[in-house]
Amino acid sequence: MARREKTETSVEGLTENQARVEHARLAQEIAEHDRRYYQQDAPTVSDAEYDALRQRYNAIEARFPQLRTAQSLTQHVGAAPSARFAKVRHAVPMLSLDNAFADEDVIDFVGRIRRFLRLPEDEQIVFSAEPKIDGLSMSLRYEDGALVTGATRGDGAEGEDVTANVKTLEDIPKRLNGKNIPAVCDVRGEVYMTKHAFFALNKHQAEIGGQVFANPRNSAAGSLRQKDPSITASRPLGFFAYAWGEMSEMSADTQSGMIKWFTSCGFKTNPLSRMCRSVEELLAFHREIELQRGSLDYDIDGVVYKVERLDWQERLGFVSRSPRWAIAHKFPAEKATTVVRDIEVQVGRTGALTPVAKLEPVTVGGVVVQNATLHNADEIARLDVRRGDTVHIQRAGDVIPQVLGVVLEKRPRDAKPYKFPTKCPCPLHTDVVREIIAGGEEGARAHCTGEFACPYQTLGHLEHFVSRRAFDIDGLGEKQIAFFHEQGWINEPADIFTLRERNGKFTLKGTSGKIRLEEVEGFGETSVRNLFSAIEARREISLERFIYALGIRHVGETTAVALARGYGSWAAFHDACLRLARGDNDAKEEMDALDQIGETVIESLRDYFAEQHNRRRFERLALQVRILEAEKPRADSAIAGKTVVFTGTLEKMTRDEAKASAERLGAKVSGSVSKKTDYVVAGPGAGSKLAEAKKLGVAVLTEDEWAKLVR
Ligand code: IVH
Repeated sequence: MARREKTETSVEGLTENQARVEHARLAQEIAEHDRRYYQQDAPTVSDAEYDALRQRYNAIEARFPQLRTAQSLTQHVGAAPSARFAKVRHAVPMLSLDNAFADEDVIDFVGRIRRFLRLPEDEQIVFSAEPKIDGLSMSLRYEDGALVTGATRGDGAEGEDVTANVKTLEDIPKRLNGKNIPAVCDVRGEVYMTKHAFFALNKHQAEIGGQVFANPRNSAAGSLRQKDPSITASRPLGFFAYAWGEMSEMSADTQSGMIKWFTSCGFKTNPLSRMCRSVEELLAFHREIELQRGSLDYDIDGVVYKVERLDWQERLGFVSRSPRWAIAHKFPAEKATTVVRDIEVQVGRTGALTPVAKLEPVTVGGVVVQNATLHNADEIARLDVRRGDTVHIQRAGDVIPQVLGVVLEKRPRDAKPYKFPTKCPCPLHTDVVREIIAGGEEGARAHCTGEFACPYQTLGHLEHFVSRRAFDIDGLGEKQIAFFHEQGWINEPADIFTLRERNGKFTLKGTSGKIRLEEVEGFGETSVRNLFSAIEARREISLERFIYALGIRHVGETTAVALARGYGSWAAFHDACLRLARGDNDAKEEMDALDQIGETVIESLRDYFAEQHNRRRFERLALQVRILEAEKPRADSAIAGKTVVFTGTLEKMTRDEAKASAERLGAKVSGSVSKKTDYVVAGPGAGSKLAEAKKLGVAVLTEDEWAKLVR
């Protein structure tokens, strides 16, 4: 968050009022992080950042004990921890597996091994083939036969210490059985939740209003990474051992020998594993296990082939992060059939409208699927999906499920063809517009024309507005604008320019009472003063930056420059756009006559200005700023009217500068060399464009010669 990036006032330096505000905000932020971490298993901050938040929260309470209430995070018994799991460095990194999808990939895999080991064609390579369990991998360290650490994979080098939790799993022996157990054994395998346990857990969670998990893997991960081991203990988790890390002594010289030894130590190992002696046997194993997949009570997402001889594994070694001696042969996407309850249109951050099929929940490979993307209006028309239709769906990995086709025989009699909405589902209910693609044709994508005023798009637009090439206000980057927006202090660009006069009247979400920006952690007197003067400095802005900042679709920087040059002033440009929006054909032709402006841009400007929310917002902004007139291109310069191409590395100026100065002097800058090119300015490293210029006899200038010409 923006506030955390700035230097924090020390807790000793906080006034009571500031402390109260910060204490409330930290509580909210920590609770949100806890929710993401514990319930969704999807943290958005590092452990160190989280710990820093907790420490500051505790320090504030220690200094201002009056802030401690029954709701305080420090008062919760058995609630969220004060720190996350400790880190454990794996003695031997936990690597991942390369994937094979097609049979040819498996043939290649075996061929690579044969070549690497220089084995003759008639030498048999034996593989241990095993199901690939879709859970979470775990490394268990046994010292002198006793379980000392259980760690998640983490980034492969370092995982999380979940020892107390793994000790609650029945499948994980606390002591290894047998005599002559090596002093150090890192046993590795997969923690998983059975499908029926997953469904039962979700049912129970839904009844008590708890967290419902998307699939057995997430629920296994969520259940294991609990700070309270009694919660883990209450969740039915299983474990299959299939690999190892550091071993002070090896107990076998083959893969299957090691697995057998794990069994003798007290581990469960997968009963479907089998020895395969040729590519054909590997592929047959893959097919066989795929057929059994649906009837297994745990999720698998493929099979794994491992070279049986450990001395060969040793010789084969690793390529980057995967072993050369093993491969995961994945199963193809899973399919299912279900009913479309409804078709909804969702609005993305950029205003794009995506139709989504809301489905009768169905399990596809252990994952409950309730939504499938329909991509766009053309896709709906192509599939002719209707509400009430029975459809085939497909899920491949973590990709959003897709609708493959409709089962026409099952179509209800009254099912009507779906009509894509003409009004956006956003609260403004603005017109929906199809994008215009090259040639002026309608594209497949539709978007909301609400732009800045559409709540789904506001933040994206505000971020663009303050970006470097738009308003570029020092101290008001993406993070700060997101913070102001989240607090409801900036909802539209004009609000940026009234921040100063509203200072002191702000309310921080989750608190009551008015505060000044200087009181918000991380802002401080100096940074607020600097921010306000940076905003003041931007009350004067060039027309091209202003047009670019409007965030109109298809109006990038170059187009904004062309429009600014073409109209000269905001008044003229604004007037042209309003006329365009009213359907005035003259306005359209005028615009069409401008260099570099075509139908796509014209349509986009028309839609933008036809929307009254957009117009009002920019009329309010125009009152806050002074928009400078555009510099007219010089008609008297040596390069006026000429076409120039820059190529190679420019050493005295950036490409952007070179382009801007050429355009200011009335030249047109092009990206490719043709007969119409007047000059090619070539720096070191120039290649094909320089060759083309020479071939066509176009004048080639060095950067210095160019500088002389335009001086
Ligand atoms: S062997 C050096 N065997 O798949 C690699 N992994 O994509 C050692 N997995 O992180 C892994 N079942 O979590 C191996 N029978 C199996 C497996 C298996 C599932 C997982 C494991 C690994 C991931 C790699």
